[in-house]
Parts: sequence; structure tokens; C-alpha cells
Amino acid sequence: MSSGLSLPQTLAIMVSGAGSNLRAIVEACEGRRLSLHPTVVISDQPAAPALAYAREAGIAVLPIPIRNYPDREAWERDLADHLAALEPDLVALAGFMRVLSPDCVARFAGRMVNIHPSLLPRHPGLHPHRQALKAGDPVHGATVHLVTAVVDAGPRIAQIRVPVMAGDDETALIERTKSAEHRLYPLVLEWIARGRLALTADAVFQNGVKLVEPILVNDLI
Ligand code: GAR
Repeated sequence: MSSGLSLPQTLAIMVSGAGSNLRAIVEACEGRRLSLHPTVVISDQPAAPALAYAREAGIAVLPIPIRNYPDREAWERDLADHLAALEPDLVALAGFMRVLSPDCVARFAGRMVNIHPSLLPRHPGLHPHRQALKAGDPVHGATVHLVTAVVDAGPRIAQIRVPVMAGDDETALIERTKSAEHRLYPLVLEWIARGRLALTADAVFQNGVKLVEPILVNDLI
């Protein structure tokens, strides 16, 4: 891990599913739009397409399936031990669909971020697109935030908005939101990598000033 004075260089990515955000991040690294080195992809789902993609991309993978452990605590302890041993400068949750305990999060305080497909604090938790459609929201989007002990409630770093169109179903809104996520996540990671944003355990600083509102990334609204 780098010292507090040096910029982050290595990135661990945690995934559970399709891996489209993982792909966007890796492609940004390959295209030199993101100056981080993805050193490992960790998943609770050994058969996740995201892991297959990571293997193809030549990134080390670490499947840690919960079923191999007697209980959730043992699984999480082993996962956190493996992750800590790799000493990543940053950890990006990219569709990692398990809630991490406060103890686990504390081990990676100030260096773990997540993307959630809603304009937090609206629609935390499961099925945020369904929640947005049900609420009749005209605008939806995604948020990158610092991971803290409270799920989906860490300081928001940046958001991107998408319109909700007449006739949208959940699938359409998920797809539109995902393409926006693919723009947002690599950009935010690059800001962190370049030192434009700095993270502490419970706050985000932009050029040295504490961020009170998330940065709104250019969108199509
Ligand atoms: C993404 O939409 C991500 O924001 C969401 O899971 C999806 C993963 O897709 N994450 C959460 O809902 C976390 N609460 P992907 O595997 O194609 O990147």
C-alpha cells in the first residue's frame, strides 16, 4: 500500500455478476484513461461472467465462494485477510452484491468505493430502478460513494443522471443507467488516482476541500 503522501496505484475490484463495470474500468486502464493497475478481481460467485472476463483480460482472479465456509463470518474474515494481504491502494466494488460488516469495512477505511445504481440517498438497497419507476421519478442515475459501515450511505463522491423515459420498464432503465455507470466509475477512479480527490475514513476532499455535495458528471439530462 502506498503511504498517505503518494498517489494510489493498484486497484482491487470486487464483483458478483455480469462485470460490465469491471470491463469499463479495465478498458479505461488499457486505454490509459485510468492510471491505476488492476491487480486482482475478487468474487463471491466463482461462475460470475465478471471473473471469466477478468481471466481473459489477464488479471489475477480470486473466487471466494461463501459455501466453502462454515458461516458468513468465517467467509468474510478470509476474504478480508486475502484482500488485506494483497495491499491494494484502492478497492472498487463493482456489482459486489454482498453487504460487508462494519468490521470488514473498517479494515479498508478510506480506500474502498462502491457504485450504486441510483441517485443516493434516493433508493438505497435492492432493486433501485424498480423503486424509481414505482416512485414516478423523472430522473434516475448512479452514485459512486465511499464505503462506510452503513450500507449505501457513505459520503457520495459523484453522480451521473439519466432520464426516465415514458414506457420504460425495469430492464430499459437498468441498461440506460449502466451505460452511464460505465462513464462515471472510471472517471471517478481517475480523479482519485490523480489526487484530485482524496479519501479518508469518512470524508472525501476535492483539491483539499471537503466535499459536501457529490460532483455531478456531465450527463444527457
Ligand atoms: C451495477 O448496476 C451496479 O451499480 C450494481 O450492480 C450492477 C452490476 O452490474 N450494484 C449494486 O446494486 C450495489 N448495491 P455489472 O456486473 O454489469 O457491473
